[in-house]
Amino acid sequence: MTTVEKSIVADITLAPEGHLKIDWVQAHMPVLNRIREQFEKEQPFKGLKVAISLHLEAKTAYLAKVVKAGGAEVTITGSNPLSTQDDVCAALVEDGITVFAKYNPSPEEYKELLIKALETKPDLIIDDGGDLVSILHSERKDLAVQVRGGAEETTTGILRLKAMEKEGKLEFPMVAVNDAFCKYLFDNRYGTGQSVWDGINRTTNLVVAGKTVVVVGYGWCGKGVAMRAKGLGANVIVTEIDAIKGVEAYMDGFAVMPMLEAAKLGDFFVTVTGNRDVIRGEHYKVMKDGAILSNAGHFDVEVNKPELEAMSSSKRTVRRNIEEYQLTDGRKVYILAEGRLVNLAAGDGHPAEIMDMTFALQAMSLKYVNDEYKKLGKTVVNVPYVLDEQVARFKLESLGTSIDSLTEEQKMYLDSWAEH
Ligand SMILES: NC(=O)c1ccc[n+]([C@@H]2O[C@H](COP(=O)([O-])OP(=O)(O)OC[C@H]3O[C@@H](n4cnc5c(N)ncnc54)[C@H](O)[C@@H]3O)[C@@H](O)[C@H]2O)c1
Repeated sequence: MTTVEKSIVADITLAPEGHLKIDWVQAHMPVLNRIREQFEKEQPFKGLKVAISLHLEAKTAYLAKVVKAGGAEVTITGSNPLSTQDDVCAALVEDGITVFAKYNPSPEEYKELLIKALETKPDLIIDDGGDLVSILHSERKDLAVQVRGGAEETTTGILRLKAMEKEGKLEFPMVAVNDAFCKYLFDNRYGTGQSVWDGINRTTNLVVAGKTVVVVGYGWCGKGVAMRAKGLGANVIVTEIDAIKGVEAYMDGFAVMPMLEAAKLGDFFVTVTGNRDVIRGEHYKVMKDGAILSNAGHFDVEVNKPELEAMSSSKRTVRRNIEEYQLTDGRKVYILAEGRLVNLAAGDGHPAEIMDMTFALQAMSLKYVNDEYKKLGKTVVNVPYVLDEQVARFKLESLGTSIDSLTEEQKMYLDSWAEH
């Protein structure tokens, strides 16, 4: 690790490659480009400090540059030890952003880097999974006093925030970006659907057609992962704990069964529940020799690794991002990217056009919370519908398409209870 001015990055000489990556995504993020133009004129964050914790790859880097273009002093750190790209970090330092991040830090280093970002005493934060907020509400409450509010990226982070709000512990308003239509309908479904298979395919270099894929959890992400597995020619099984989602998966054409049955059949497993231990000891006992496990949920707790280790006689890395566990009965089970989000830890994350909408929401939500924080109170708030709709309109325009508007007669008809 090297310290460059205020930043801590792995290797500053990697910057040229990082700049190329950021330029590539910027060219594919037209919605965020429009917001950058607005921010450059309006300077909504002038004189403010913003700390960002997100999967630190090129799309995120461009978001950081957009927030800086809005007048902020920006500090950025990762949100997962394996999803930080060192060349992108180096480029951001050259672009005048303070970076505290590197690929694959130890758990202690990872946390130290998050704390360093918070020690800049930010006015606003962008969080992904709730790590920044959690530190600000536990061991480093002293750094929370000046925070006006922030925005949270993902399902798991929002669950954590809502638990804090319920206990009356939340100290500032947080916008639930994940719950906006332009986030989960596209990012969680199409983004995760495509990028999970990109990650699995580039890591394993194995065929998917004809194999059995078990998708654990049929939420917004799970629907995308299952849909794309079907498109690749797999036989797809869905496991769920929610009866409605179970029916939905069945009607979408997938086999639905408990994990204990699915475990016997799967060649590939993808967990995407936001829950812990969804694949565990009892399931490893019945798996086929050579089963490949991966996770797309936020934390690496969905596949229970300690139980697998306890059942194994040895473990070795057989290919970049593939660990082979040799079970004591002779079978082998593989885990991709140490059970961390496979699309980010073993890939480049969602496509740029998807993150264009998500990060446009992030940028607008940050401005919203800064404008309204005094009125919002210490709550988890939704992205206002008007912002959600604006992102969709910008997106349609960038696609060179448009939609119809209601006629006056139609408006009256829809508003009336007497007319039919
Ligand atoms: N990999 C990525 O890029 C990415 C992107 C967005 C969200 N996420 C993360 O993915 C996870 C899922 O997000 P989501 O938006 O799909 O959430 P969601 O709440 O829409 O869906 C989760 C589903 O998992 C099911 N589930 C819970 N426990 C289960 C169990 N034991 N077995 C089977 N099913 C179970 C729930 O009933 C629910 O239907 C979260 O951790 C989220 O933060 C990852």
